[in-house]
This record gives sequence, C-alpha cells and structure tokens, in this order.
Amino acid sequence: MSVQSEVKRLTAADIRARKGGDPIVSLTAYHAHTARVVDQHCDVILVGDSLGMVMHGLETTVPVTLDMMILQGLAVMRGSRRALVVVDLPFGSYEASKEQAFLNAARVMKETGCGAVKLEGGRRMAETIAFLVERGVPVMGHIGLTPQAINVLGSFRAQGRREEEWDMIEDDAKAVAKAGAFSVVLEAIAEPLGARITEMVPIPTIGIGASPACDGQILVLEDMLGLSPRVPKFVKRFGDLGPSIDRAVGAYAAEVRARTFPAAEHTYGMAKKNA
Ligand code: KIV
Repeated sequence: MSVQSEVKRLTAADIRARKGGDPIVSLTAYHAHTARVVDQHCDVILVGDSLGMVMHGLETTVPVTLDMMILQGLAVMRGSRRALVVVDLPFGSYEASKEQAFLNAARVMKETGCGAVKLEGGRRMAETIAFLVERGVPVMGHIGLTPQAINVLGSFRAQGRREEEWDMIEDDAKAVAKAGAFSVVLEAIAEPLGARITEMVPIPTIGIGASPACDGQILVLEDMLGLSPRVPKFVKRFGDLGPSIDRAVGAYAAEVRARTFPAAEHTYGMAKKNA
C-alpha cells in the first residue's frame, strides 16, 4: 500500500478546470529550497529550461539537456508538496518525432515524478501534443516567443505587435488547445492579442509578457527577485536580492580577513576527558 502525503498535489486537470476562474499563480524554480518557498504561494512550479541561463550562464536555452532537466526536476519535486510541477522538454528532445517526444516525456515523468511537461510550438507540435496526451502525458503548450527557436528567430523579439501576425499566433493557440494541452504559456506577445487568445481558447492561458487578462501569470523566479543581471521588459522586480547578497558576502569576506569569523560560538571545544 502506498503512503499518501497529507497534502494533495494539484494536477494538470485541476489547473485545466481553473479556466476563467481565480488567476493561476506560477513561477519557475530549479532547486529544492526555492521550490519550498514558491510552493507556499503558487499553483504551478515550472522547472523551465531557462535554468540554462540562470544556473549555467548559457546565452540561450538551446544547449540544455534532458539530464539537466531531470536533475533539477527531481530537486523541485523533493522541495515542493502542493503545486503542480511542470518540467520543460529541452530543445532536441521532442521535435524529431512524436515517438521521440513520448519516450523522453515518459522518462521525465518516471524519473522526476512531475505532473506534466511543457513543450514549445503551436500548429507544428499539435500532432505530438495529441500523441502525448492520448498516452497519459499532460502537456502545457508554449507559443508566441519560443526561445528554443532563437537561432531561426534571430532575436528575442515580442510577437504579434502587427495585426498581420495575429492569425498565425491565434491558429497556434487553437491548435494546441484542440490537441489536448491542459494550458498554454503565451510569451512576449502584444497585450490585446493575449487578451483575445484568452477569450478564444477553452484552456487556461499563462502569460509572461502577455496580458493581465490571461488566466494565470508566470515569471522566472531569479528575474523577479532581482538576481538576474539583464531582464526582459515584461519582468517586474518584486525583490532586490542582488544587493543584499552582495552585502552579506562582503561582510563575510571582511570578517574572514579580520579573523573575527568564526567566533567562539561557531567553533567546537574539546570533549571533556572521561565524558
Ligand atoms: O524556461 C522557462 O523558464 C519558461 C518560462 C519563461 C515560461 O519557459
């Protein structure tokens, strides 16, 4: 018999049922300790492939591997109890065929215990999304700006700022919803388009640089905490951890140099003889 946790974790179906309801609060996390904090406040934790930039200092998400995603997905599952944990499928792990996508998504789910995967792409990924969902893999879609396509796009430019671009992005949203995704991330698209797609599709939209009308919002945790040196226009800094980490590390360095750290209370005395 399995030992059930007292806290029931949210499922992809729970998030799907939130369409048009209370906003779905989402953030990224890559570590157990940050996941523990985020879990207290969020419905969805995304182990995003942005970890390539945030944790590894990469310029893009393209070099991120499945093993990197699985390692951090496991850490986030260990650190969280209530939120739905979604793990990104990285570039090259799902585009070749729907079979490749299933094998890698199944590996992510088995090895991390996460509740869903996310993949980038609209119409071109619809068949793959349907294949995964039919086989028991809940999928979060991701359209608008798709960072894994940076080498084709040429820059991280907002999408849909000209009305001529709207049809294509709307078709992507409809295709992802029709294929059975339980929600879709709308990244860096013009605000009126974000609101319009939210009205148009029957699944929750999760905005990042989209619209306050979206069914939910997501940001990269380190960006909103003020730890990332460069952030896109759509990031609001809700914290300013950079300077306070700088102060703490500076104070530590000064005390080590002055030999005032460690003090007596941070060191171990000898055991009493015969104790
Ligand atoms: O990788 C990531 O963090 C993401 C979010 C920006 C949605 O995909």
